[in-house]
Amino acid sequence: MTAPPPMLAGPAAASPLAALHGRCFDEIWDEHAFRALLFLPGTFAVLDDAREPRAFVLCRVVADEAEILTMGTLPNARRRGAGRAVLTEALARLHEQGVARVYLEVAEDNAPARALYAALGFVQTGRRKGYYAMPGRTAVDALALSVGLGGSDAGRFAAPLRFGV
Ligand SMILES: CC(C)(COP(=O)(O)OP(=O)(O)OC[C@H]1O[C@@H](n2cnc3c(N)ncnc32)[C@H](O)[C@@H]1OP(=O)(O)O)[C@@H](O)C(=O)NCCC(=O)NCCS
Repeated sequence: MTAPPPMLAGPAAASPLAALHGRCFDEIWDEHAFRALLFLPGTFAVLDDAREPRAFVLCRVVADEAEILTMGTLPNARRRGAGRAVLTEALARLHEQGVARVYLEVAEDNAPARALYAALGFVQTGRRKGYYAMPGRTAVDALALSVGLGGSDAGRFAAPLRFGV
């Protein structure tokens, strides 16, 4: 059976987003945090499925630039294309909105995320030394990545979009 296309999501999706985030990261972003972010102009999420989401991405647009604030796939659903699907959908939506460049930060030791971002064309533009510092652990550098959505890249992310939650 073909998987349903990813869904755009707004503040009503704060609860499932917080639940997904809590299973993907140690750091807690609760429902209130997601709701507050999703009420900000230019901020939206993409879920892979409205009823049983397994992957999400949260983006914020400011003028013609955007940032991927966070993304994740449930541990038991990884490596099946859900992360790629939601991020591709988000980039398509950003491209449609006239965004020229998308930025994000990723821990240097996060090989799965770095591989996903590289597969979608992100390249490293900077480094923040010791940015991810946890008590009792060696600090890890953050890599700043970005991808251009304009010029010859136009159309690369032109996927059909469907409004959801
Ligand atoms: C990073 C993450 C979102 C990837 O989600 P996913 O649904 O497993 O990714 P996909 O199945 O769509 O993979 C797409 C591509 O990314 C790369 N990739 C993903 N996981 C990988 C892994 N463990 N090792 C190597 N490459 C990987 C591959 O290129 C893959 O394509 P392929 O399967 O055709 O080879 C997921 O591992 C995750 O939630 N990690 C914890 C949270 C996190 O780190 N978020 C990002 C913070 S910056």
